[in-house]
Amino acid sequence: MCGIVGYIGHKKAVPVLINGLLSLEYRGYDSAGVAVLSPDNNEYKLDIVKDKGRVKVLQDNKELENLHGNVGIAHTRWATHGIPSKENAHPHLDNSKSFAVVHNGIIENYIELRQKLIENGYTLYSDTDTEVIPNLIHMNYNGDILQAVSKTLKELKGSYAIEVISPLFPTKIIVAKKDSPLVVGIKDDEKIIASDIPAALSHTNKFYFLDEEEIGVIEKDSAKFFDINLNEVKKDIKEIDWNAESSEKNGFEDFMLKEIYEQPNAIRETIGSRLSLDKKVNLELDGVDFKKFNKIFIVACGTAMHAGIVSKYSFEKFCRIPTEVDMASEFRYRNPLIDEHTLCIFISQSGETADTIAALRLAKDSGSTTISIVNVIGSSITRISDYTLYTHAGPEIAVASTKAYVCQVTLLNILALYISEQLGIENKEINSFKESILELPEKVKDTLTTIDAIKEIADKVYTQKDLYFIGRGTDYAVSMEGSLKLKEISYIHSEAYAAGELKHGPIALIENGITVIAVATNPNISEKTLSNLEEAITRGANSVLITNQDIKNDKINYIINIPKIDSILSPIISIVPLQIFAYFIAKNKKLDVDKPRNLAKSVTVE
Ligand code: M6R
Repeated sequence: MCGIVGYIGHKKAVPVLINGLLSLEYRGYDSAGVAVLSPDNNEYKLDIVKDKGRVKVLQDNKELENLHGNVGIAHTRWATHGIPSKENAHPHLDNSKSFAVVHNGIIENYIELRQKLIENGYTLYSDTDTEVIPNLIHMNYNGDILQAVSKTLKELKGSYAIEVISPLFPTKIIVAKKDSPLVVGIKDDEKIIASDIPAALSHTNKFYFLDEEEIGVIEKDSAKFFDINLNEVKKDIKEIDWNAESSEKNGFEDFMLKEIYEQPNAIRETIGSRLSLDKKVNLELDGVDFKKFNKIFIVACGTAMHAGIVSKYSFEKFCRIPTEVDMASEFRYRNPLIDEHTLCIFISQSGETADTIAALRLAKDSGSTTISIVNVIGSSITRISDYTLYTHAGPEIAVASTKAYVCQVTLLNILALYISEQLGIENKEINSFKESILELPEKVKDTLTTIDAIKEIADKVYTQKDLYFIGRGTDYAVSMEGSLKLKEISYIHSEAYAAGELKHGPIALIENGITVIAVATNPNISEKTLSNLEEAITRGANSVLITNQDIKNDKINYIINIPKIDSILSPIISIVPLQIFAYFIAKNKKLDVDKPRNLAKSVTVE
């Protein structure tokens, strides 16, 4: 999705803006641009350089050398309205060329606003929804930029994070946001604005987080904030414990591989001081009366939703509360039965996913209690939710989520134990389950040693067009995530099936040489999954088994042994070979593992 960077300070703006854009490349984009205010004979001039393509294309543009100023805004665009082109790239100008604007989000009523502008004599030069913003600011401007921005924002329907600069106020960047993230990094007499924290991390770890419909007036040595009616808002600076190094590759070929290897430590951070053997689980959820809940909804998208599916087993086992898992995009429109007796848990790495935010708002409006499991500190979901539990996975840059998933599942299991203890439910297995959670970092580390064996399989099957994953119970849940990883980064069609369902239809797809990957880690049902795998082998399938059981079977082409653990937690282990498998398939196909086509790291539009 689109990325925003802004700089105001004593340095030349362009290099800071370009570096910021480079660190946002992982979000996925198709064009890039900058606007800079440079001194010009006691006045200021506004220059824009933008083009279709990578940030590198922009960086190599000679015109950038003429941009000397210390105030600038920059953008990477992920096309929504209008094809990727120079005209549609941001920044956009108003007709008088006084106001330059970059924008993330979607202006839903842009057609109506374009019409209004045209009726008032304006010309729109791009196909974007964004171009209405600088022109509306111009139309509403009568010498007071804050009034003009406030009036403009009130006319917009949809989502926005914007930056505005102009020679009319050359020492300021005006920012505003609604349903799209924006942070202001603070460093002495410099301010770095960004849609994502990693873009500013090499400068500072101190940030202001804009809230909904807030406007900021950012100068090099001050930052003031206002609500949409221009009442001043006092904000606290938040310190983030991520460092710039954690958002660099550190010798790894790709962020995805680095993040796969970071999983043992990331889980250690998630567990932190929340869990120990001799004490009750420690979570900051004081004040929640868990006794009142008769239903739990877990709601999220993509990989985060898979983390929810895997964890349902734990909530039902330890809390004895019926638990349903929903895709946020479905939940928000299906009129779910929620009231004050419902606990709604939302999961999101970015904390900015539009569908998850909408589902969270719906749950709050319906009177339920909301707890969110989030990675990005200060993100929108953390500010809307009644309670937030952070995964502490560190920045996840690769579009394909890996370490966030294992940390989400770990934290959800800890939450299930916490609720169970709060409810006073006796369960003899609680202590051994706690022990198993504490063993996770070492066991995930041991699982990483399967890398060579997995690479060997990936080297053999990477040219295939279809691939199937099967499993039962939590092994089925992890199969869905393994299949998503493969689709996302290798563009190979793949499906995950509950192993028992295979013969109710999908087995018709099995023919000579098709690869079927079975996950079997639950001692009670592994034999059954194995029988289903054999049914596929009989029909010519090339077979792979990921297991922690002592299975010897000559008919299976590859058996990958992983460490034993409680079957509720096994997805945290068994996902590792599946992530590595997807990674090497994509590498064999010479694809961009970190930035797969058509995808964005955080999906801030519906
Ligand atoms: O930031 P979120 O966790 O809310 O994102 C949800 C999904 O968009 C995300 O998990 C997506 O499925 C990933 N690309 C998966 O690798």
